Amino acid sequence: MPSTLPDGEPVPADGALPPEALAGVGQRGFGVYVHVPFCASRCGYCDFNTYTAAELGPDGGSSVDAYLEAVEAELRLAGRVLGGAAPPASVFFGGGTPTLLHPDQLARLLDGVAETFGLAADAEITTEANPESVDPASLRALRAAGFNRISLGMQSTAPHVLAVLDRRHTPGRAAAAAREARAAGFEHVNLDLIYGTPGETAADFDASLAAAVAAGADHVSAYSLIVEDGTRLAARIRRGELPMPSDDVAADRYLAAEAALVAAGFAWYEVSNWALKTPAASPDARCRHNLIYWRGEDWWGFGPGAHSHVGGVRWWNVKHPAAYAGRLAEQRTPAHARELLGPAERGLEEVMLRLRLAEGLPLATLGAAGRTAAAHALAEGLLEPGPYAEGRAVLTLRGRLLADGVVLRLVADHEIADQEQAAACS
Ligand SMILES: C[S@@+](CC[C@H](N)C(=O)[O-])C[C@H]1O[C@@H](n2cnc3c(N)ncnc32)[C@H](O)[C@@H]1O
Ligand code: SF4
Repeated sequence: MPSTLPDGEPVPADGALPPEALAGVGQRGFGVYVHVPFCASRCGYCDFNTYTAAELGPDGGSSVDAYLEAVEAELRLAGRVLGGAAPPASVFFGGGTPTLLHPDQLARLLDGVAETFGLAADAEITTEANPESVDPASLRALRAAGFNRISLGMQSTAPHVLAVLDRRHTPGRAAAAAREARAAGFEHVNLDLIYGTPGETAADFDASLAAAVAAGADHVSAYSLIVEDGTRLAARIRRGELPMPSDDVAADRYLAAEAALVAAGFAWYEVSNWALKTPAASPDARCRHNLIYWRGEDWWGFGPGAHSHVGGVRWWNVKHPAAYAGRLAEQRTPAHARELLGPAERGLEEVMLRLRLAEGLPLATLGAAGRTAAAHALAEGLLEPGPYAEGRAVLTLRGRLLADGVVLRLVADHEIADQEQAAACS
């Protein structure tokens, strides 16, 4: 089950933001996330904030209708708080399984977003979907409602891997759904893959990559299987029923993903994300929504457990759908708590997120110790020499394999800067 929420500062009942955070709203990039917290069944590896019908029980406060009304109430609250926000450049429905809702229900929420903020004519409008939860008719209905990008959880095409992951779809269903999405007119199609699952062979993962490419996806996200505490997968590993995923295998799989995807015309733009770069592809297949997160711009996350960030204020909603709907029914913000990020914290986040992007981290963002660490990383072949000479830290392929470690070395500088600041103030 989802873990408890972190504490932070209390949020005013009307959700109001400090004027410093509101300054610049409309000038920075802005995205909308809508969290749909329902799944038909829970995959054994997943600790996302999502609930099956059995987990929700008969409580009326967590019905789909109550959820829809609550999101609409949060939209009205956001409209009051943000006032003149520019129309979002992207809207992303994630989950959970958004496509457990009827296309008309997703259309109703998308209309609510458009009524609240307007929508840029070229906005990227994505829904996540489980392969078995869409069909040609529902995909056509979603396209007609304005969705132009779909992100399907393929995970693998190997039956024994899908079984270990507790996936409900057949091996070929994700590729078929991707083709159906293209036929329905979706401009962009992403397929999520997971590698390093116990029992997966190199050939299994190669076959999954080939199937993703052949299905006509213009974007692939490939994630190393993370064993999250409290999941069924973690319990099975603890009991010795399954081996712990190996870091060496994960590195080999990452190299396989890079080789197969580059050969098919894709290029990485974030450590775990590749977008098609051929002239036949739409102008830019990178996910604009995720780039808003990674560049530290503004987004409002609607729905139970959703996180938001506006101008250095980050807040997170209560997790349970009934608690979420209850707060909004009482005309109160659904935010559980928030934190106001100071310059040091924002700098730290910038290093952590931007270093994972192919566009790289401006070296000027780093303090003296961070720049020294970057020079060492360059000498060790972890950063690309060309961009470095132009003032940007961009990971090499080896650097991407060791991305978390490189980030830690570069951010050590921020910790030193914080300590120096604390010492100076004491
Ligand atoms: C929140 S899920 C939503 C997608 C959709 N519900 C589905 O499962 O098809 C988004 C993606 O996160 C990835 N994911 C979730 N838990 C993970 C884990 N423990 N390790 C690696 N990837 C994970 C999966 O690739 C999944 O497709
Ligand atoms: S369907 Fe997706 S969100 Fe739901 S439990 Fe499985 S991985 Fe998690």
